[in-house]
Amino acid sequence: MTCRICSADVSVLLDLGTSPPANSLKKSPEQFQDSYPLVLEICDNCGNVQLRDCLDEEALYKDYFYVTPSSTLLSRHYDFLQSFLFKNNYLTSNSFVLEIGSNVGLFLDHIKPNVAKVVGIDPAQEISEIANQKGIETVCDFFNEESSVKLKDQFGNPNIILARHCFAHNCDPHRMLKGVTHLLDDSGLFVIENAYLLNTIENNEFDQIYHEHMFYYSIRSMKALLAIHNMHLVDIIMSPIHGGSIVFVAKKVSAEDKISSAVGKYTLQEDLLLTPSAFKHFVENTWRIKDTLSRLITGLRDGGWTIYTYGATAKGNTLLNFIGLTDKEIKYCVDSTPMKQGKYLPKSNVKVISEEESQANPPDYFLLTAWNYRDEIVNKVRQAGNYTSQFIVPIPFVHIL
Ligand code: TMP
Repeated sequence: MTCRICSADVSVLLDLGTSPPANSLKKSPEQFQDSYPLVLEICDNCGNVQLRDCLDEEALYKDYFYVTPSSTLLSRHYDFLQSFLFKNNYLTSNSFVLEIGSNVGLFLDHIKPNVAKVVGIDPAQEISEIANQKGIETVCDFFNEESSVKLKDQFGNPNIILARHCFAHNCDPHRMLKGVTHLLDDSGLFVIENAYLLNTIENNEFDQIYHEHMFYYSIRSMKALLAIHNMHLVDIIMSPIHGGSIVFVAKKVSAEDKISSAVGKYTLQEDLLLTPSAFKHFVENTWRIKDTLSRLITGLRDGGWTIYTYGATAKGNTLLNFIGLTDKEIKYCVDSTPMKQGKYLPKSNVKVISEEESQANPPDYFLLTAWNYRDEIVNKVRQAGNYTSQFIVPIPFVHIL
């Protein structure tokens, strides 16, 4: 296979077997779902890490149930991101902001009072309807060169385009960047927020591998990709959200561009840490976590203890399916998202229940599949009066809180 950024040959880094699309919850346990390989590849030429088998976008987003959760952690993150963008004049009160993959419009809703105009674009029908009902103008479409022409005709040039946790959800980033370069004028900015490969590798976050995540970006691979489109990085900021994320600020290359010192600093850091031995440890630790968690969960189940997972997350589905855990070991999955409740996790067939149902009938253990909200969830459970259920945290190594 070849690299979808630079076309050089790639090699296999990790093979997690097969899994159904991780956000496609089922209406009944009997509903049939196809499984597809989850194989990670690496390119020595540009540093790109990519998923080998890309699913058709229509298939992937047909039964899409990811709704950005309302969370104090996320709300704090939105404040942090907004103040970074304003402090550096990347956003001003006159800005027209376009967000790609805007979901139900939570971030746009957050910044709307402080900028001139916000528009979202998202391919999921039900989700974009929710955004429009809330007053966030949202076009239901995939973002690419064709839709960018329509967006430009309808709304004009945005000053800033955001792609938060969706830029890697696309088999061909060149198509997306062609749309971006069509829409942005020479001073416009493209801000990409994504899980950061260095964090994924250092924290053994193999469960971040699922079909929506078709790329695992590093600074090196992002620079290589942008250069092909005559763009470059002018700033970078790191954030702890979703297990460690990076915010890339990019623009069309111009001699007057001021490059923040953060770009050099984080590039150096990455060059020193994202080494072949780091990748080797990541692969070894993935197999170690599988083995430990498999023995722990089956042992607890055999001992008569009840286990629920907490968070009907995409990464939770990778975790369960890779380890081979099903409704035989896990009684329920708890999730606060009404759209997910009453449905079944793909392949493992675990039924999703509400936080209130879980509170009324708590388990002995929660396997924390939404480990990125660890403190928030543990506090919520304890504050609701449950001091007995213990939490099993799978990442970065299996431990019990
Ligand atoms: P994410 O990690 O992909 O954002 O998904 C987090 C999931 O966890 C989402 O489906 C909502 C769920 N969740 C809860 O059930 N309770 C909570 O308190 C939080 C913060 C999230």
